[in-house]
Amino acid sequence: MVTLSIIKADTGGFVGHSAVHPDMLAAGQDALSSAVADGLLLDGKVGHCGDDLSLIMTHEHGADAEEVHSFAWDVFLRTTEIAKGLGLYGAGQDLLSDAFSGNLRGMGPGYAELEFTERPSEPVVCFLADKTEPGAWNLPLYKMFADPFNTAGLVIDAKMHAGFRFEVYDLYEEKRIWFDCPREIYEMLMFIGAPARYVIHSVESKTLHEQAVATSTQRLSLIAGKYVGKDDPVMIVRCQSGLPALGEVLEPFAFAYTAGGCMRGSHHAPMMPVSVNDAHPARFDGPPRVVALGFQVHQGKLIGPRDLFDDPSFDRARAQTNEVMDYLRRHGPFEPHRLPLEDLEYTTMADLEKLLADRWQSMPEAAVPAPR
Ligand code: 13P
Ligand code: 13P
Ligand code: MG
Ligand code: MG
Ligand code: MG
Ligand code: MG
Repeated sequence: MVTLSIIKADTGGFVGHSAVHPDMLAAGQDALSSAVADGLLLDGKVGHCGDDLSLIMTHEHGADAEEVHSFAWDVFLRTTEIAKGLGLYGAGQDLLSDAFSGNLRGMGPGYAELEFTERPSEPVVCFLADKTEPGAWNLPLYKMFADPFNTAGLVIDAKMHAGFRFEVYDLYEEKRIWFDCPREIYEMLMFIGAPARYVIHSVESKTLHEQAVATSTQRLSLIAGKYVGKDDPVMIVRCQSGLPALGEVLEPFAFAYTAGGCMRGSHHAPMMPVSVNDAHPARFDGPPRVVALGFQVHQGKLIGPRDLFDDPSFDRARAQTNEVMDYLRRHGPFEPHRLPLEDLEYTTMADLEKLLADRWQSMPEAAVPAPR
């Protein structure tokens, strides 16, 4: 069994919240190479999207392994020091705890981990996003694994015909449930259509009994109890041979669907699929970006990455993103650009309620609706 882990954190932005400084990327790659040389990891590559640094690692320690999580934590402490030395913005932003204890649960860094027996050919895609929340993966995952208008294999591949099981987390209540699709797609959509609360955590094939997907599902604001930056989630998707083909896995991103995030984590904005070179959200701290790094996992090694959205066939999605961004931006502080009150990451409402408490009056008689 091999485990593919992506562990990520924002440990400082260059400039503002737009990118990771090259010195931090170099330090991350050095640490990964040393961990391979020391035998902790089979392989390790840094990735980045916006101001978030990802450690993409293969190893044999399983998910939630203390040695792998504590290694990642130490790397993030080191890159935080570099960020402090350069005066970068929000140095150590996602490190919410002072000391490491056992694993990264509730500590701030996000992680997606998938343990599997390597197939003769094992194509995987590591998706990294910035300026959005984990529910941003719900719509594309639904399309990849449950929508025959996206994924031809659901109709014409005998190994996919039985469908997939989706594991969905309720992040508010800390509960989870499995949905059996296609039988329960309507039930599941009722929940995953509300992505601020319900988030797809994993997907497995009913025919192969193999896990195909792992996502990071941490909500930083729910951990910290206040806004400390957006979650900027990651996701692993295995492809081909009874799972969606590579092109079926990428296809949902040809549509610029909107997600919560962007400026101050508090706006709906369209997801822009981009090459690694363009993964630097700037306009209104957005639009949210997603990169797709393709690897062939071979004998535990990460052969790649291929920068899969560095492809003119996603140009229209990018153009659509810019159009939708223009349209939404013209709403300024109005919904639906601004998130509804309960989902705002920043708010002055609590202060305003106190400040204005004695200025609110009853409505004049005629304006009060008659009791029913
Ligand atoms: P090949 O016949 O090139 O292997 O392609 C199969 C496939 O998965 C196309 O989606
Ligand atoms: P990050 O989570 O990427 O740091 O974004 C924070 C933010 O508020 C951007 O406006
Ligand atoms: Mg940041
Ligand atoms: Mg970020
Ligand atoms: Mg963030
Ligand atoms: Mg709501």
